[in-house]
Amino acid sequence: MVRTTIVLTRADVAGQIDIREVIPAIERCLADHEKGEDLLPPKYIIDMPGGIGISACMAGYTKAANMLTMKLGQERKANVDQSLPTIMGTLQLYDPETGELLMIVESVLATMYRTAAAAAVAAKHLARQNSEVLAVIGAGQLGRQCVRAVASVRPFRRIDLFDIRQPQAEQVARDLAAELCVPIRVATAEEACREADVICTATNSTEPIVMNRWVRPGTHLSCMGADLHSKIECEMTLLPRCRIFADKMEQCVERGEVSQAIEKKILGRDCYAGNLGQVITGQVPGRTSEDQVTLFDGIGLGVQDTTVAKSIYEQATAKGLGTTIAFC
Ligand SMILES: NC(=O)c1ccc[n+]([C@@H]2O[C@H](COP(=O)([O-])OP(=O)(O)OC[C@H]3O[C@@H](n4cnc5c(N)ncnc54)[C@H](O)[C@@H]3O)[C@@H](O)[C@H]2O)c1
Repeated sequence: MVRTTIVLTRADVAGQIDIREVIPAIERCLADHEKGEDLLPPKYIIDMPGGIGISACMAGYTKAANMLTMKLGQERKANVDQSLPTIMGTLQLYDPETGELLMIVESVLATMYRTAAAAAVAAKHLARQNSEVLAVIGAGQLGRQCVRAVASVRPFRRIDLFDIRQPQAEQVARDLAAELCVPIRVATAEEACREADVICTATNSTEPIVMNRWVRPGTHLSCMGADLHSKIECEMTLLPRCRIFADKMEQCVERGEVSQAIEKKILGRDCYAGNLGQVITGQVPGRTSEDQVTLFDGIGLGVQDTTVAKSIYEQATAKGLGTTIAFC
């Protein structure tokens, strides 16, 4: 008999899915990806007529997790005028052997979970063990999840949060301080960066926010917001000070945080020490001294969607979440 499909809304994920369970799954995914057995077809983008937005299709298959996903996303910038979200989508999880559709889940929050989990895995492997202060730059959808995920990998005594929309930062600080049992201070970018041991960037900025002179020796940066060549969050002069890692070097060189510095020849295309997965498997050393500045450039892999979908499916099945549909 064909298995039924679980349908999960964003509220189901927000209320019931534990991001801390996603972090070890993403860690295994990045390590397994280094075996070269995943299938990642190129992202397919449909430019909608009249420049109203894009439709994006992404697929990922991981042999290690033995799962297949397809993600369909819609971006319509003008939706703000109708008080609608500008990004919406669904993530579908399939059994690769039989083709059965196991789950359909709202994809925007799931994407934030897997991205924040990657930032946390990078901090776990690259930040100094004695890190005490976390700075998160950006308090939007991704910034909120980065606070929750990165805070779980070190016993931080304080979190500083900066966003150009200060009320947004204040809201996130109020929402999360009790959940995390760590004081969250709304700060300027300079205050946040100068006192941080770990900096996580999660904005959609096209201008640098993190200035070189504010970053102390020994800091780790997880740079997650810049997933297109046009976006940037760190001053370019900071980058030559850093030992830099990617989620996948071939893609980050074109579209990641350091891609503009490569174009301006401040860095070479060989500026990466390796992929984060190679650090996890021990193939490449991570941090090599206490005063080194490390930087993770992560723009996201389709197999991270597959991994977060599998983690959500397992948690949803165990807790009996969502609506179940028999499609055939
Ligand atoms: N690396 C990945 O895999 C991945 C995955 C998902 C999203 N993203 C990217 O992450 C970024 C954030 O996504 P989101 O969904 O959270 O967007 P969002 O619109 O919810 O939040 C962005 C936040 O950044 C703030 N911001 C913008 N410019 C700033 C600046 N100069 N200084 C301080 N704050 C600033 C905004 O005020 C806003 O609160 C986007 O660029 C998105 O494309 C990356």
